[in-house]
Amino acid sequence: MDIFASVFLSSSLLVFSFVSSDAADSITQSRFLSDIENTTLVSKDRGFVLWFFSPGNSNNRYLGIWYNNIPGKFRVVWVANRLKPIPDSSGVLMVNSAGSLVLLSQNETVSWSANSTKQARNPIVELLVSGNLVLREEDEENPENYLWQSFDYPSDTWLPGMKLGWDLRTGLERRLTEWKSLDDPSPGEMSWGIEVHNYPELVMEKGSQKYFRSGPWNGIFFSGMPWLQASPLFNYTFVSNKDEVHFMFEITKISVIARAVLNQSMYLTYVWVDGEWEVYLSLPRDECDVYNFCGAYGNCIISESPICQCVEGFKPVSRGTGDPEEWSRGCEGKSQLSCEDKDKIGFLKLVGLKMPATTYSWLNESMNLGECRVKCLNNCSCMAFANSYIRDGGSGCAIWFGDLTDIRQMPPYRQDANSQDVYIRMPASEQANSIKKEVKNKQKTKVVVIVVVAIAVVFGVLMIPYCIWKRSNFRGEDLISFDFSNRATERGLINKKRTGKGRTKEMELPLFSFSSVSTATNYFSASNKLGEGGFGPVYKGSLLNGQLVAVKRLSRKSGQGWEELKNEAMLIAKLQHKNLVKLLGCCIERDEKILIYEYLPNKSLDYFLFDPIRRGIKDWATRTHIIEGIVQGLLYLHQYSRLQIIHRDLKASNILLDKDMNPKISDFGLARIFCGNGSQATNRIVGTYGYMSPEYAMEGLFSIKSDVFSFGVLLLEILSGKKNTGFYQSDSINLIGYAWNLWKSNRSLELMDPILGDTPPTNVFLSYINIALLCVQENAVDRPTISDVISMFNKEPALLPSPKKPAFSFGRGMEDLGSSKRKPEICSLNDMTVSILEAR
Ligand SMILES: *[C@@H]1O[C@H](CO)[C@@H](O)[C@H](O)[C@H]1NC(C)=O
Ligand SMILES: *[C@@H]1O[C@H](CO)[C@@H](O)[C@H](O)[C@H]1NC(C)=O
Ligand SMILES: *[C@@H]1O[C@H](CO)[C@@H](O)[C@H](O)[C@H]1NC(C)=O
Ligand SMILES: *[C@@H]1O[C@H](CO)[C@@H](O)[C@H](O)[C@H]1NC(C)=O
Ligand SMILES: *[C@@H]1O[C@H](CO)[C@@H](O)[C@H](O)[C@H]1NC(C)=O
Ligand SMILES: *[C@@H]1O[C@H](CO)[C@@H](O)[C@H](O)[C@H]1NC(C)=O
Ligand SMILES: *[C@@H]1O[C@H](CO)[C@@H](O)[C@H](O)[C@H]1NC(C)=O
Repeated sequence: MDIFASVFLSSSLLVFSFVSSDAADSITQSRFLSDIENTTLVSKDRGFVLWFFSPGNSNNRYLGIWYNNIPGKFRVVWVANRLKPIPDSSGVLMVNSAGSLVLLSQNETVSWSANSTKQARNPIVELLVSGNLVLREEDEENPENYLWQSFDYPSDTWLPGMKLGWDLRTGLERRLTEWKSLDDPSPGEMSWGIEVHNYPELVMEKGSQKYFRSGPWNGIFFSGMPWLQASPLFNYTFVSNKDEVHFMFEITKISVIARAVLNQSMYLTYVWVDGEWEVYLSLPRDECDVYNFCGAYGNCIISESPICQCVEGFKPVSRGTGDPEEWSRGCEGKSQLSCEDKDKIGFLKLVGLKMPATTYSWLNESMNLGECRVKCLNNCSCMAFANSYIRDGGSGCAIWFGDLTDIRQMPPYRQDANSQDVYIRMPASEQANSIKKEVKNKQKTKVVVIVVVAIAVVFGVLMIPYCIWKRSNFRGEDLISFDFSNRATERGLINKKRTGKGRTKEMELPLFSFSSVSTATNYFSASNKLGEGGFGPVYKGSLLNGQLVAVKRLSRKSGQGWEELKNEAMLIAKLQHKNLVKLLGCCIERDEKILIYEYLPNKSLDYFLFDPIRRGIKDWATRTHIIEGIVQGLLYLHQYSRLQIIHRDLKASNILLDKDMNPKISDFGLARIFCGNGSQATNRIVGTYGYMSPEYAMEGLFSIKSDVFSFGVLLLEILSGKKNTGFYQSDSINLIGYAWNLWKSNRSLELMDPILGDTPPTNVFLSYINIALLCVQENAVDRPTISDVISMFNKEPALLPSPKKPAFSFGRGMEDLGSSKRKPEICSLNDMTVSILEAR
């Protein structure tokens, strides 16, 4: 009955569409596609079309699938007869009597055919809305049972829903291959697919030469491509089992069109934004992505010079001139590895690496790290081991045999993703040396800091207590002014001062006892809970003297440890500005880490801007007052004591409002003073999707310009009353894309929040938009500083520079990674010295 109905329905539909136009929606044994008659096959939603075409300047005819609704030339997503073009318009696509799909040209020559594995009874060919051309039985809807599908034979384009990789049951491999040229879609040398072995990974190959590899999948992303993980726009799936190994992506926003393409030099992901293809991602991105650029045991570190550095415990094979030829020879162990004597073998932990090439590796998903170590220790050819999956603190065991190649130091990534650590086998004696060296490095750092202090004193700059504290930290002293043994008074206020030898007074920070905080918050009751911050819940509390406070109880499982807490506490306590939230004290007892802030009755800005019920700060004057306050607060952060404090997580929910709607910037836990902490490993990305600048999100490079970017996003949100992410109103990816589109067509006034009661003067509003767009420009060097922004607010709109294209996607080519973006923006102690010496 069902089958009858659907057959009847589909055949009546077919007849209808066949009669009504040349665009059919299926091909059967009695209906074919002909070049000369110019007939086409169109998907149900008319998004894709199958037809004959001539690429570029060629006169050859090819049968291919195109985007139907997208203008321009870059529309071909699949080509059937890549290897055998038809020289004239004689091409005909039909289902032959054997039930195969064949493309015939003059003289009945078979130019291409789709061989199905089974003889079909009632074959029908359809172009699905996904862009997949399928041959199936008329009554068969299960994709698993298609007789043939074009998704199994990709050209150079990877579409959402299309699997890349292997069906191990049939031996079918789906791999992208480049077009030879714009005129010739035949497969060129470059290909992109999955290399199957124990620990599979994506590889780009030029002929038989490996050119780039993704690193293996660690449960969240490919180890060498951390930005390829689930985002508001993309959903990635990686499957690896005995039947199949494949990788797939999907678009989570229906209105967005995206594709990935392999051209002659790179792999690119594009998103169709406002009438053009926007590059979202391109690979390889830099020299370090080039396969095995630094040779065996060479660690490619893009921010170092030279970029090839030997892994600790290894030395260069040849001390050369430093040209790339030399580097690729790699490194070798400093001393002979003994195999039998297990006491003499150690493992050096390296943090945040792209996993070495996995061609010679072994995997066991159920072993833990300890078992993994034993396994490696017991096999003389095992050179390294690691957790294969990083979720939930790490699991699984991966082991490498033979020399380790294609190692790269990855940019620090987000905090929610654990770092990728690899344990490399080396003589225990070497391991001890490395640790000593590390200590020595730290001492060196100390000397550097002292030099900085000297310079600062010479220039009459008040030295920042943080750095003094930092320095003292290297000596292992606990100089933080609150301590555990101290019993707090009932009022919870103790000022404990400590003065060091010849130093200025250390900071004062009131210490609260846990019991007093607990009482103040009604034992952390749910009714006192104000919200959930990045690091744990925030409660409203009332001190014995009646003062209201906001209590931030840092969650134990959060990454925030002692170090970060001290960081945040010291920072906030030092910073006093009317547009910054004031820290009143803290409590550290047993496992509890609690910060006590001034209480702000009006909650945060996002609550006013985006809350569907409360929505609205209806007068323009209040909004400009808030904008000015944020700018003043940021200016103070960026220029305080001539030391730049980068917030790194500026967003609407981090702007609190007092009862007079004065904005106060909060959450400095993430902020980091420019002098950093001298250790690479703790550089983690902490930020919020949608507010992060591309260089920060993708490479971990942060600077005051990344704060400026976040400010630009915030400004657009305040002006429009719309959230940057989760912006579903138009075809744009996000608010930035939408704003840019309106700006280009001189329609920026449409961005104005409709609930504004008093509309601002047109030119004022336009200059605010102009400034916001300047702040979100793709290139960090183009973005203004906050003090530039302040002077811009007072300028005539006509005098403002025109914004360049914003970074509304993460697209960037290799050429973008110029020197301007490299070292200076990575926070490290050495960089600070450099910048101080240069700037002052
Ligand atoms: C073939 O059809 C397409 C759309 O159906 C049209 O754009 C094109 O001009 C036609 N070509 C010829 C030669 O008629
Ligand atoms: C068709 O066949 C004729 C004679 O065998 C030959 O000359 C011609 O090149 C063929 N055309 C094509 C397109 O193969
Ligand atoms: C289909 O089979 C024919 C004959 O065995 C072969 O020449 C052709 O390459 C096959 N086509 C595809 C797409 O596998
Ligand atoms: C992502 O894809 C997986 C597998 O197809 C699916 O289960 C999941 O719901 C998707 N998530 C989103 C946000 O679309
Ligand atoms: C590949 O595409 C990128 C981006 O469009 C372009 O810059 C590059 O030149 C292309 N490579 C070749 C060889 O065409
Ligand atoms: C993987 O490890 C588990 C636990 O140690 C063990 O039971 C299992 O046999 C191992 N599998 C293989 C293939 O070695
Ligand atoms: C070490 O591992 C290699 C590769 O799996 C294997 O061939 C060899 O037999 C192993 N040696 C020992 C002693 O287990």
